[in-house]
Amino acid sequence: MDARTVNARLRRGEELSAKELSWFAQGLAEGTVSPAQAGAFAMGVCLRGLSEQGRVALTLAMRDSGHVLDWDMDAPVIDKHSTGGVGDCVSLPLAPMLAACGVYVPMISGRGLGHTGGTLDKLEAIPGYNVSPDETRLREIVGDVGCAIVSASADIAPADKRLYAIRDVTATVESLDLITASILSKKLAAGLQSLVLDVKVGSGAFMKTADDARALASSLVSTANAAGCPTSALITDMNQPLASSLGNALEIDASMRVLTGKDTGPLLELTLALGAELLTTAGINDGAAKLQQALDSGEAAERFGRMVYALGGPLDFVENWQRFLPEAPVIREITATQSGTVTAIDGEALGLIVVDLGGGRRVETDQVNPAVGLTDVVRLGDKITKGQPIAVIHAAREAQAEAAAENLRRAITIGEGTAPQTPLMLERIT
Ligand code: URA
Repeated sequence: MDARTVNARLRRGEELSAKELSWFAQGLAEGTVSPAQAGAFAMGVCLRGLSEQGRVALTLAMRDSGHVLDWDMDAPVIDKHSTGGVGDCVSLPLAPMLAACGVYVPMISGRGLGHTGGTLDKLEAIPGYNVSPDETRLREIVGDVGCAIVSASADIAPADKRLYAIRDVTATVESLDLITASILSKKLAAGLQSLVLDVKVGSGAFMKTADDARALASSLVSTANAAGCPTSALITDMNQPLASSLGNALEIDASMRVLTGKDTGPLLELTLALGAELLTTAGINDGAAKLQQALDSGEAAERFGRMVYALGGPLDFVENWQRFLPEAPVIREITATQSGTVTAIDGEALGLIVVDLGGGRRVETDQVNPAVGLTDVVRLGDKITKGQPIAVIHAAREAQAEAAAENLRRAITIGEGTAPQTPLMLERIT
């Protein structure tokens, strides 16, 4: 077999066999497939598409290109994946809430991508938190605490690591086949027994239309199930930030407020919905009630604290989290220049404001500032009078706060009309 032949068959629209896809994924992982061949493959898949069978075969081949974890536990090993949004820190309260319900959650998470935040960047706002324990330590923590939120080690789906970087610079990120294989290869390599997907749609998501979100959700759900991992998806609204805080330390604070019963807004609502969906998929009944009990009893917060400590953070983080999180030197309230209703929020623009403040990366070598971001962001439909705050900017310098203020006023529309009333959960795909 050779890459030229595989690519020629792809170019002619012929169906690639599982053997060919497996050979190609292995070649990506081992470096025997060149960058040019990988780029041609990505473009071939983009233009010709794979069959459903081919999509499953590519996902399995990329999963098997590296180490696949397996677990021998006394309860299901499960996880959630979000396609990315702004103010979306569901993973942080969800993992310990699930662990408190008796299941195991080895949550392999990512860093910020484009305008969206990343769970690992958020956790690194906690002093000492190590996102890269070795596998032995990961197994110990998952066994003892029930959850660990960590990064993928280098040997998890290495074919995806290589192909993703090549897609990024060859205009081939957008293929449904490639997105599906990329997301699921990493999740399936964590050895999950069930998975729930949060597919976001709206101004702060990658998928801007319901049709695109439905297509991605259907592709992910059918491929994951065919690959042997019971999976369902919720399509959820991202036309405004999920939490009213955006930024790394600021989203840790938002998550701690959920875990300690101080916030009962949309972040909690979606965390409960995704958790209940996942527990149902894993065959556990009364998920919503169990998750609520995990919060009310304080056990979910306690599990979060144990996870933080086990991964190198402070022992008393849950009791004193505000003392440990970094604070930006410039904190500026931004007020409305006119009265009216909040009729639109450009979620992507808000995410990019956080990136500009230093809370995300423009190039992969950028250092993330954990302290910066936005808080107290208004919600769609809020009635505002002139001079009332619409958000608070947390910046490293005055000049950055100044630029953010201007962009913020452009991203939040206050007008005469009414705001679209979109439910948080739009559709369930099984
Ligand atoms: N996230 C991934 O991991 N891969 C993609 O292709 C897109 C989003």
